[in-house]
Amino acid sequence: MTKILVAYFSASAAKITEKVAERLAETIGADLFEIVPEVPYTAADLRWTNPIARCNKEKFGRKDVPSAGKVENFEEYDLVILGFPIWYGCAPNVVSTFIKGYDTAGKKIAAFATSGGSKIGKTAEKLKSYVSESAMVLEAKLFEKDVTPNALQNWVNGLLRQN
Ligand SMILES: Cc1cc2nc3c(=O)[nH]c(=O)nc-3n(C[C@H](O)[C@H](O)[C@H](O)COP(=O)(O)O)c2cc1C
Repeated sequence: MTKILVAYFSASAAKITEKVAERLAETIGADLFEIVPEVPYTAADLRWTNPIARCNKEKFGRKDVPSAGKVENFEEYDLVILGFPIWYGCAPNVVSTFIKGYDTAGKKIAAFATSGGSKIGKTAEKLKSYVSESAMVLEAKLFEKDVTPNALQNWVNGLLRQN
């Protein structure tokens, strides 16, 4: 049996990514972990139209953004699915900082995202620099907030067929 972890970050008040992550984990019988920044984001921190908002400083300063808590049994998972909102066309820094902090050697890594309209682009390729060389980075996929359990199951079935 493939053991799967869904580790997600969700920032907006609507918690769109969280809703998809919960549906995904429930549908496929995976464990769920929320990536929470050590210093939580306020609404002002996320106002990306303000050049000096925290989100812009972190992005353009390429800053690490540590998260609280730890996945205790990370080594047990065969497949880790990262979920996040697309920020500036890719994964938020807190997600890359999170996955960098674990030994991903030999694991399969996949990702899903929600967005305000951006496509998934090179999200999967960009994650490669944050995981072990021996990790297998699978597809990244964009989901709408009302994605059905059936569509989520089909996506994961496809991931599990990749060796
Ligand atoms: C700092 C920041 C940057 C964002 N950058 C993008 C972007 O490049 N493209 C896009 O389509 N949406 C962008 N968004 C919108 C989010 O991806 C979208 O609202 C997402 O569904 C929110 O998910 P959440 O509720 O889980 O936080 C951005 C949002 C924030 C706060």
